[in-house]
Amino acid sequence: MGVVMNVTMDVDMDVDIDATKCGGMMSVDPNLLAPIYQFLQCKTPEQWVEKARQPENLPVLLRDHLLCELKAAQSAMFLIRKYAVDPKSADTLLAWFRPYEDFAYKKMGDIHSLKGKNQVTKQITARANSPYSQDLIDKMVLLIKEELHHFYQVLEIMDIRGISYDSISASRYAKSLFQHITNHEPYTLVDKLIIGAYIEARSCERFAKLAPHLDEDLGKFYISLLRSEARHYQDYLTLAQSISKEDISQRVSYFGQIEAELIQSLDNDFKFHSGIPAQ
Ligand SMILES: [Fe+2]
Ligand SMILES: [Fe+2]
Repeated sequence: MGVVMNVTMDVDMDVDIDATKCGGMMSVDPNLLAPIYQFLQCKTPEQWVEKARQPENLPVLLRDHLLCELKAAQSAMFLIRKYAVDPKSADTLLAWFRPYEDFAYKKMGDIHSLKGKNQVTKQITARANSPYSQDLIDKMVLLIKEELHHFYQVLEIMDIRGISYDSISASRYAKSLFQHITNHEPYTLVDKLIIGAYIEARSCERFAKLAPHLDEDLGKFYISLLRSEARHYQDYLTLAQSISKEDISQRVSYFGQIEAELIQSLDNDFKFHSGIPAQ
């Protein structure tokens, strides 16, 4: 098949801001969030917002957010390496991520050395024997590019605010969701895509919920992320349904229940995707 996608093309880096300032409050286009609210089985509890808006919790929130952006990009990269791309492209993808992973996990490099690293000059080529390669590649490569851009944006915000990057443990959220994945294909892939949709949708919902409680710059930044995260959620869901031969709505509501339980139950570990703060 040898279908090729050149990833050096310009992408919409979600610089368009949905926020409009009215009376000191930021408002969000309701059409953007309506499908997200419909998809998620619960809204973020006020107790989480109360904790997240406290200035002393901002460093942990931003450090976790930073890593969540990298993990979002990595998940998409692992998916297309496993299911869609040829061996050469698999190496290209690893090389694309290396400076980010070196920074995040080995403390190598800094905001200056990461500048301009978000580009792939080689082509990402679909594997010949995969029935859904091209659509997966098209959507995931765009998503990776955007998530790595978000990663850099969060790093810039931390840098301006003098918040150091310290490694931070992962919350229970994603690993608890992934524990429920079916272990045979194509259901495994479909489950992973549905989980991807939930993580993106919840992130989008939390950005919108938190934005009005943050200072203006951070609030605007969070609102600016909504459009791409909403599209990521849609892309994951569309891919899941296109790959599954069966209707996925039961599987979607199964993961929706688990997700809502994680959001609504007590959680000792305050993070971007944590449950109700235990204290
Ligand atoms: Fe993102
Ligand atoms: Fe995203």
